[in-house]
Amino acid sequence: MSRIRIVLPFLETERIYLRELRRSDAPDIYRYAQSPEVGPRAGWEPHASLDDTYRFIDYAIRKKDFGQPGLFVIMHKADKRLIGTIEIHSYQEHRGEIGFVLDPDYWNQGLITEAAKAVIVWAMEGLELKRLTYCHFPDNLASKRVCEKLGFTFEGVLRNKFLMYDGTVRDDVTYSITDEDYFGGRIDWVERFKQDLFIDY
Ligand SMILES: CC(C)(COP(=O)(O)OP(=O)(O)OC[C@H]1O[C@@H](n2cnc3c(N)ncnc32)[C@H](O)[C@@H]1OP(=O)(O)O)[C@@H](O)C(=O)NCCC(=O)NCCS
Repeated sequence: MSRIRIVLPFLETERIYLRELRRSDAPDIYRYAQSPEVGPRAGWEPHASLDDTYRFIDYAIRKKDFGQPGLFVIMHKADKRLIGTIEIHSYQEHRGEIGFVLDPDYWNQGLITEAAKAVIVWAMEGLELKRLTYCHFPDNLASKRVCEKLGFTFEGVLRNKFLMYDGTVRDDVTYSITDEDYFGGRIDWVERFKQDLFIDY
């Protein structure tokens, strides 16, 4: 695993911008991380206190010491508000996995799809990934739909893959985008989307 510290770029799209997570983001993240509708769908326990959120942020920032890219926060431009996080995790030289959560007040407006497109462009072109994966639990239909909109290819269901915080295990539905898909023109939104994407390294 690379030990070079990766500095996340600033990414801006039509309705949002993405920037690196900071410790001072804790109160904004805690607002939605308390919700039982958010964390469990992504595999983590709802935060019971602001201290939980600080611990989560400290852990996320520490992962950068071990070569992981770290988390972007998603900022809503019009509302001037932090509305979620998105990251490439499990990064290992040529591959990584995308993961995200959004404040329920902002669901079903296409905002994660917009954020994920920006991160995918950066991951495939900036991190030079050859394989980008995405997983969701079988009953997470919103996540499944996001994955379809992003142009991922279904690979299979990994049985009992994910160990939950309560000790139970869950199947994970797995998808990927390869560099051949991305640069070979098989992801139909890429060229159009890049015209409106601003990346500041
Ligand atoms: C998954 C999540 C990030 C989606 O964010 P979002 O900004 O609402 O996503 P989008 O608006 O881009 O797309 C959601 C799509 O799912 C569809 N959808 C929502 N709920 C659905 C359901 N129960 N069944 C089927 N489709 C559903 C929406 O209609 C929309 O599709 P459309 O654009 O074709 O209408 C958000 O629901 C979330 O944070 N969930 C909790 C955490 C989580 O699940 N993270 C992902 C873990 S893999």
